[in-house]
Amino acid sequence: MAVSKLFPTLVYSARLTGAAGQRLNERLLRECRQLSLDDAAGRRWSAQKYPGGYTSYGSVHRMHEMSPTFAALERAIDRHVARFAGSLDLDVAARKLAMTDCWVNIMRRGAAHGLHLHPLSTISGTYYVRTPRGCPGLKFEDPRLERMMAAPPRLADAARENRPWVVLPAEAGCVLLFESWLRHEVPANLTSGERISISFNYGWF
Ligand code: NI
Repeated sequence: MAVSKLFPTLVYSARLTGAAGQRLNERLLRECRQLSLDDAAGRRWSAQKYPGGYTSYGSVHRMHEMSPTFAALERAIDRHVARFAGSLDLDVAARKLAMTDCWVNIMRRGAAHGLHLHPLSTISGTYYVRTPRGCPGLKFEDPRLERMMAAPPRLADAARENRPWVVLPAEAGCVLLFESWLRHEVPANLTSGERISISFNYGWF
């Protein structure tokens, strides 16, 4: 007998290593905090749409074009996106797969980010700047879930690839990549520390 695993959902993770990675993270942390102080429009936007936190998604969402530090992050992530596209066997040679948006998220206690997709994009992801112990990871949903009209529930100890939801931990210094159609959320931050991340989209032009 044989059991084939077809149509997998790939999620890519990597650490930006070395002293250079650590220095970049320290600069990003300072700039994320400074941006949240400077960006009054973003604080107003967040008060309405991101309760308990700050995001520059609605105000300053092209940080890679505004800050040399974020541009350095873009260059580091470019390499990982190229590898991920290779793992997916995407044929992107004819056009450029490039960062289109890049924004800052600061989640304080109680902040959450409900289920969503990243429309109009190809590959999306998050780089984690600061992750207090016990802060939430990134929760991915099985993209076939809405088709499972009569499917039995999964065993509590089901293998990870068979679970309807999987949470990948948020780790400072690490980047997570996924295809932009994959629905995901960040559960509420129940810690008293600030969870700081930088999210981004790549488009195929
Ligand atoms: Ni997202």
